[in-house]
Amino acid sequence: MNQQTDVMEKIVALCRRRGFIFGSSEIYGGIGGFWDYGPLGCELKRNIKDAWWYDNVRNPPLGPNGREFQMVGVDCSIIMNPKVWEASGHVGGFKDPMVTCKAEGCKGLFRADQLNSSPCPLKPSKMAGESEKCALTEPRAFNLMFETHTGALQDSSSKVYLRPETAQGIFANFPNVMSSTRVKIPFGIAQIGKAFRNEINPRNYTFRSREFEQMEIEFFCKPEESMEWYEFWRNARIKWYESLGIKSDKLRPRQQGKEELAHYSKACTDIEYLFPFSDEPQELEGVAHRGSFDLNQHGKHSRGDENAFAVIDEDTPTVAGEKKGKYVPHVIEPSAGADRFTLAVICEAYSYDESRASPEFMKFHPRLAPIKAAVFPLVAKDGMPEIGEPIYREIKKHFPCQYDAKQSIGKRYARMDEAGTPFCFTIDGQTKEDGTVTVRNRDDASQIRIDKTRCLEYLRDQLGL
Ligand code: GAP
Repeated sequence: MNQQTDVMEKIVALCRRRGFIFGSSEIYGGIGGFWDYGPLGCELKRNIKDAWWYDNVRNPPLGPNGREFQMVGVDCSIIMNPKVWEASGHVGGFKDPMVTCKAEGCKGLFRADQLNSSPCPLKPSKMAGESEKCALTEPRAFNLMFETHTGALQDSSSKVYLRPETAQGIFANFPNVMSSTRVKIPFGIAQIGKAFRNEINPRNYTFRSREFEQMEIEFFCKPEESMEWYEFWRNARIKWYESLGIKSDKLRPRQQGKEELAHYSKACTDIEYLFPFSDEPQELEGVAHRGSFDLNQHGKHSRGDENAFAVIDEDTPTVAGEKKGKYVPHVIEPSAGADRFTLAVICEAYSYDESRASPEFMKFHPRLAPIKAAVFPLVAKDGMPEIGEPIYREIKKHFPCQYDAKQSIGKRYARMDEAGTPFCFTIDGQTKEDGTVTVRNRDDASQIRIDKTRCLEYLRDQLGL
């Protein structure tokens, strides 16, 4: 076992033990590619989605040359009229190449383009197709969209799809947003929501799942300004990851080569992160220049005119009697995975220090930590709970906080270290004498004493929140 695999196994075990992530429907043996977030994991993921929404929608960064722009949100249905997916190209083209292994005892299904990283069920063969026994078929195209039906009749007329991306709900609502708000180009529409892909080989924990959440922005701009906005978003998105504690040496912006780009795309950068399960950085987010492809397609398929969603060019000089020019906006799409970033945050936070009483701890950025503080009476007697409870109740109004009066103090610290709680306040014998409590810092296990009335203020200062 190499060191990195070992780290990943430790992370998975900690996530299970402490209630970050469980396999979906585990009591029935689980189901491949589906995951549940436990009490700590759902707080962590919520903090991630809240940070994304706040930093991109409520308080977006300034654009090129300090330019302000508007961002609005939508929350669209998962099942849409199937014509959406015909227009977007997903019905015809959202496919991966799949091969089957016909060897006795295998019958595995693999992605043809990922054979050398697909473990083979037939031992001693390690990777699919590696051994002489493997009998792989020719690749065939497999559509990743999950199908279901609406209404009581289950025939082709009622066939619908679970959305494979949140983006199309945004495009389909472009005319609604334009007519119901006062947004002006350049502006963006954001959405966070579930997406579903029937991945042939879900793998690497939650990294490639069949049900996952996306955090997507479709940013509409003038064609001639589109490259400037593309570069702006690429840089802004990298800065965002760094601002939440992802170290820059583990982040890599990878500009896609011409051969990788969709036919309508002018440029695309994958923002990648070096996960412990891989030697190469893997995609966290794609920032794509999509040109006017999506609005053209939806214009053509819904209104019979690919220019149906053209907007008025407010910058055309006004000449008496002449109409202003029109254009179909270009789109820059920063498209991030909430689950992939949650996994990156977990991997980045995982720390191991043998010299500590509790070697494993999660060094979450204060904004993302699921629990910000804990209050511990050293023992559940001698008036200590009476001092601790009011401190806990005060902090809890402002920050997620836990109170625990049971077990040894070492075990309680260890639990909070594994949960990634930045500070623990402990009431002990000295508190009754001089009114001070111990503050224990998660990152270096150091302890100082502060006045018991200053706990909330101290926490605010230290967390910077
Ligand atoms: N609208 C563009 C789009 O969906 P994508 O690169 O297919 O682009 C965007 O997906 C992001 O969604 C990815 O960068 C990744 O973070 C996340 N994502 C995609 N497929 C995923 C999967 N099977 N499991 C978890 N996250 C996934």
